[in-house]
Amino acid sequence: MCGIIGYIGKENATPILIDGLKRLEYRGYDSAGIALLHGGELAVKRSVGKLINLEQLVEREHLDGSLGIGHTRWATHGKPSEQNAHPHRSGNLVLVHNGIIENFLSLKHRLETEGYRFSSETDTEVIAHLLESYMKKGLSLREALRAADSDLRGSYAVAAICVSEPDVIVTTRSGCPLVIGKNGKGSFLASDVTPLLAHTRNVVFLEDGDIGILTSSDISVIGSDAQIVNRASVTIDWDADAAEKGGYPDFMLKEIHEQPQVIMDTLRGRFNYETGEADLPDLSMTAQELIEARRIWIVACGTSWHSGLVGKYLFEEMIRKPVQVDIGSEFRYREPMIQKDDLFIAISQSGETADTLAAAREAKKRGARVLSIVNVVGSTLARESDGVIYTRCGPEISVASTKAFTGQVMALYLLALHVGRVREVLSAEEGRWWLDQYTALPGRVEAVLKQEADIVRIAEQYYSKNNFLYLGRGINYPIALEGALKLKEISYIHAEGYAAGEMKHGPIALVDEDMPVVVLAPRDRLYEKTVNNLMEVRARSAPVIAFGFEGDQELSRVSEVVVPIPEVHPLLTPILFAVGLQLLAYHIAVFRGLDVDRPRNLAKSVTVE
Ligand code: AGP
Repeated sequence: MCGIIGYIGKENATPILIDGLKRLEYRGYDSAGIALLHGGELAVKRSVGKLINLEQLVEREHLDGSLGIGHTRWATHGKPSEQNAHPHRSGNLVLVHNGIIENFLSLKHRLETEGYRFSSETDTEVIAHLLESYMKKGLSLREALRAADSDLRGSYAVAAICVSEPDVIVTTRSGCPLVIGKNGKGSFLASDVTPLLAHTRNVVFLEDGDIGILTSSDISVIGSDAQIVNRASVTIDWDADAAEKGGYPDFMLKEIHEQPQVIMDTLRGRFNYETGEADLPDLSMTAQELIEARRIWIVACGTSWHSGLVGKYLFEEMIRKPVQVDIGSEFRYREPMIQKDDLFIAISQSGETADTLAAAREAKKRGARVLSIVNVVGSTLARESDGVIYTRCGPEISVASTKAFTGQVMALYLLALHVGRVREVLSAEEGRWWLDQYTALPGRVEAVLKQEADIVRIAEQYYSKNNFLYLGRGINYPIALEGALKLKEISYIHAEGYAAGEMKHGPIALVDEDMPVVVLAPRDRLYEKTVNNLMEVRARSAPVIAFGFEGDQELSRVSEVVVPIPEVHPLLTPILFAVGLQLLAYHIAVFRGLDVDRPRNLAKSVTVE
C-alpha cells in the first residue's frame, strides 16, 4: 500500500505535496519522491527512508512549481532504494502509482523489444514507459492512460504529468482508492482524503475505470465509456487523525477490516488457475530443491509463531510433509538438529525480530536453505534469506498483529499448494479446487466481519472478567493460542490458549463461573471431541463462547453464545476464526478503556533479545 498525491493550481505545489505526503506516511514509508513541472522543465526528487529525507532534499534544492505529483512507498516489487522510489519517468512524462501490476513482466519484455531501457526493479516503471509509448503514437496523456488501462492487469491508482501538457494532471484507478477535490486555488488528488482535508472537505471518490482530469481551476471525470461522468461530491467531516485511520477509531480496527484486501493482494498474480499451481518467483528455489528438502522447519515469534504452527498442520495434512515448528528464542540456543538440505522457513511481519533473525542465521550456518515470509520488503530477514514470499499487507501500524497474521497464513497456503504440486502430491484438479477455496476467502472473511455487532455484545458481557481460556483442536489449536495472545496484549486480561484435549490434564481445575471459555468448534472430524470438552467446562459453570459453522444448532444448545463463521474445509478455518477472535479482543479492550494501538510494555518490532 503506497500513497500518491497531486496538485495543480495558483500556489507553489512543493509545500502542498510534502505536507500531503506527511499525511500519507502511514500508507508506506520506505522511500518518497515528488515531481514538479516548472517553466517547461520536469524536476524529479526522490529519497530513501523517512519523508524527512525528501523534505530536506527539496528544501536544499528550492523546488518550485504550480503542478506536481508525489509518492510515499511501501515496497512490493524491488527493495527500498532511490532507483525504485517513485515518481518514475519515461521521456517527458512522470507518474506515481499505488498498487500491484500482475502482468508487469510480460509488459516489460514487450517494452524492452520496443527499445525501452529500465532503471528500476519496480512494476511501476512499466506503466511510465507504456504511457510514453502511446504518446509517441500521437495519443494525448488522457488517451494514453485509457489505452494503458486495457493493457494492465492488477490493482492500481496512477497519477501522471508530462511536459507537453503543462496544464493538466491525469489520474485513474483500478482496485485502489483515489480521491480528487478542488478549492478556489487549485485541484488536488490523493490516495485518500487525509491530505485534502487541509484544502477542501468536498471530495469526489473515483470509481474503477474513471479517468480524473485536474486543471488549476477545475476537476472532471471521464467514465470507462469515454463520456464525462458526474461523480457526486462528498463532504468529509472526519478530522485528519480519523482520516489516517480510514474513519476507524484505531489502526487496529482498520487493519482487522483490511484483511479481505490483504488476502486478495497476497494472492494477486501468484497462481496459475489452468495448471492449478502457485507462482512464487521470489522463492528462488527450484522444484528439485523443494522436493529434496529433507525436513521443513518453521521458526518465528509471537503471532508469527502461531501462523507457523498453522503451517505445520497445513503441510502435514494437505501435502503429507512433516514440519518442525520452533520459537525463535528456543531454536537459536538449543543446538538444533538442522542440516544441509533442510528447508528453514522464518516468518516475521517486520523482518527485524532479533530472535527470528538469529535463528535464521543459525540455520544458514548449518547449511539449510532459508526461506522467509515477510511483510517489509528489504528488511534484514528478507535480505539475508535465500528466498522470500512477501505478504502484501501494507504497513501494520497497530502493535497487535492482525492482518499480518492473515497474510502469513495465506503465504503458507500458497507455499503448501506449490510444494504439493511440485511433489505431485496434489493433482492439477486438486490445485484448482484449493485455488477456488483461497480466492473465496475474502468474501468469507467479510461474513465474519459482519458479526462485529454481535461480538461487541459478547465483549460487553465479559470484558470485566480477569481470566479467559481459549480451546481449539488440530489446526485451530494455534488459533486458540493466537486468540489468547490478542486478548492478553491489548486488554491485559490473563488468557491461556490450550489444546482442547488437554483440559483434563490440569487446566480444568481453573474453570468456574468466572472464567469464560472460548471454544473453536468447526464441524470437522474432531467436532464431537471438542463438544465433549465444551460440556466438561460447562459442567463446571463456565460461560462458553463458541465459534462454529453457521447453522450449527447443536453447538448453540451447549453454549452461552455462538459466533457463526461460513462453513469451509477445516484447513481453511484458521483465518476465519482468527478474525472473529481479533474483534473479540479488540472490543473487550475498548470496553476496558485501553489504548489498543499502543499497549503497555510492548513494541511493534522486538529487535533486541
Ligand atoms: C503480535 O500481536 C505481537 N505484536 C508479537 O507477538 C509479534 O507477533 C512478534 O513480536 C513477532 O513479530 P514479527 O512478526 O515482526 O517477527
